[in-house]
Amino acid sequence: MTSMSHDRHHPAEVAELASAAAFAAAPARPAPSPSPARPDWPRGTQQLRYGGDYNPEQWTRDVWLDDIALMRDAGVNLVSVGIFNWGLIEPREGEYDFAQLDEIMDLLAGAGIDVALGTPTASPPAWFWTRYPDSRPVTRDGVALGFGSRGMASPSSPDYRRASAAVTEQLAARYADHPALVMWHVHNEYGAPISESYDEHSVRAFRAWLEDRYGSIHGLNDAWGTAFWGQRYQGWDEVDVPRRAPSVSNPAQRLDFARFSSNALLECFIAERDILHRHTPELPVTTNFMASSCSSADYWRWAGEVDVVANDHYLTAARSDSHIMLALDADLTRSLAAGRPWMLMEHSTSAVNWQPRNLAKLPGELARNSMSHLARGADAIMFFQFRASRSGAEKFHSAMLPHAGTDTRVWREVLALGHDLGQLESVRGSRVSAEVAIVWDWESFWAQDLEWGPSVDLTHRDVIEAVYSALWRRGVTVDFVAPQAELSDYRLVLAPSLHLVSDGTGAWLTDYVHGGGTLAVSYGSGLVDENDAVHPGGFPGPLRKVLGLGIDELLPFAAGETAALDTGGHGSIWSEDIRLTTATAITRFADGRAAGQPAVTVNRLGEGSAWYLATRPDAATFEALIGDLLAAAHVTGKLQPEGLEVVERATGDERFLFAINHAQTDARLVARGVELLSGDAVEGSLLVPGGGVRVVRLRG
Ligand code: GLA
Repeated sequence: MTSMSHDRHHPAEVAELASAAAFAAAPARPAPSPSPARPDWPRGTQQLRYGGDYNPEQWTRDVWLDDIALMRDAGVNLVSVGIFNWGLIEPREGEYDFAQLDEIMDLLAGAGIDVALGTPTASPPAWFWTRYPDSRPVTRDGVALGFGSRGMASPSSPDYRRASAAVTEQLAARYADHPALVMWHVHNEYGAPISESYDEHSVRAFRAWLEDRYGSIHGLNDAWGTAFWGQRYQGWDEVDVPRRAPSVSNPAQRLDFARFSSNALLECFIAERDILHRHTPELPVTTNFMASSCSSADYWRWAGEVDVVANDHYLTAARSDSHIMLALDADLTRSLAAGRPWMLMEHSTSAVNWQPRNLAKLPGELARNSMSHLARGADAIMFFQFRASRSGAEKFHSAMLPHAGTDTRVWREVLALGHDLGQLESVRGSRVSAEVAIVWDWESFWAQDLEWGPSVDLTHRDVIEAVYSALWRRGVTVDFVAPQAELSDYRLVLAPSLHLVSDGTGAWLTDYVHGGGTLAVSYGSGLVDENDAVHPGGFPGPLRKVLGLGIDELLPFAAGETAALDTGGHGSIWSEDIRLTTATAITRFADGRAAGQPAVTVNRLGEGSAWYLATRPDAATFEALIGDLLAAAHVTGKLQPEGLEVVERATGDERFLFAINHAQTDARLVARGVELLSGDAVEGSLLVPGGGVRVVRLRG
């Protein structure tokens, strides 16, 4: 948590990003619930939505006409336009030129292609930066960032907010009744590449936010524990943003700055959204999230403010399990959408341009990726971008229409996907349900990523990924839940390394178990409260009762160190000196620094049980443990053929089975019904060829 800047396009920055933004930590965080009165899907066709970002400003009119004809060939029915055109539609402050955008909108409308119209506020024009230099975002090290790229201004700059509102107002008034317009796409990826700014506007806004949160400077001193290192504040004018300091900054200050920063960005979204709602109450407004790849926005908060959840997802090409991470991201997005259909607003047809080695997708991967999002609840499959850019920073990024044109593998796959989505219209609106939930908490990520924790080897994210992957391999569909969300639908809830646990969250998990749930918690949980302070009585804080244990001392391992477990296998990274109260040890460390101590425990409480894992087990032990947990919770989940992804969507009495084979070898499944992509009957045995996708409307 060391930088203001996050751009998932740059891995080094990604590590730093863990910092930024979010929200006032109200004790209970409600599940997202956009107003039911709001339209929650683009107006128009009942088909699945298909298309991408379209940036025609880079091309001449004859190219637009070619593009539109090609879009129709591919079955494109939605494009996102105008996301980065502020400098073109408002060339000087207050002077607007919509001639080009008018023509593009008219041409698209004439071709029956709908538009998600962007507000261009992710990329203020040159005049803005020249006239309002104090709106430039400032890094933690005090560097004011310059122009010549794209990106957010200081979200707390009054000039940025005023200029954004002005251009949004103009767009809304001009296009409210345009026949091509079916929804609004505000800004672009709030939080990337900038999520925190240490400028003077942010200092003032942070003080006001803190005053609102704590009421008095005494309240702030108390929450931040400023008696430590003599940091006591006497007045609000002494409080600063957590700039780079000689030693580690106050972690509670940094955690609050992360909350404040996400809030500041969300305020910018809401201001634009409200203008658009006023002009077009019948149209949904969204912004594109980066569900699992952006840790700077508390999307549980954001999800309640958008009319439809939209997400961008890009594979990390270097990972051999990137398809599993895609599934995680899609499940998290569906969870943000509270189960309702959501939009995949961007992904890539092939290589991106911002990873160290930009690997092209393999043949068929474009379809597998798209179908995986669809299987997990997306009703819109969109790409960045329609036509590849010749100039600028993204010229090496793939597109629906590659530089080499239509006689290409990528274009053929784009056509085929458009055709396949046309066969799947009946899937639209169906839902995915899950019996297993994983707790996902952006605040816990922020707190865990602060400096000076027990071990650099433990991260919330790694443990979530391990748990999710094990469940994926067993074909178990997972929802993600916010702390204190409703749990009554779930047989099994996992809280992997949940570093920050408030008293309310502890009570929530305790109640779940008491009422008959099965809970699994792993090492490094309950270490701090919402102010990044250790709970009275020590670890694991408010989880002591539900887990039936206390921890006398954390015993993280040295790099590469392992310890044998008495049931076979070994643990690494972490161990603890555990004092059992009501729990029973199932597995103990056989040697090492925690020899004789529990490594896996279970505690019966009320009608349910709570399991605890005090180390990172080897793969086979972990796999077996996941099997035991599923069995204990009465959840079906048997190991699937390697690389086979199986998910169901359902609506009323219709069920759709998606089988996506990420391996090269053929797989077989038991199924009866009709395979929708081919129209073939399936009578008991479904062949899913290596690399192939099958979607079966199930019978019986
Ligand atoms: C993000 C942005 C797009 C584009 C893509 C490239 O998702 O929203 O504008 O830069 O990345 O992968």
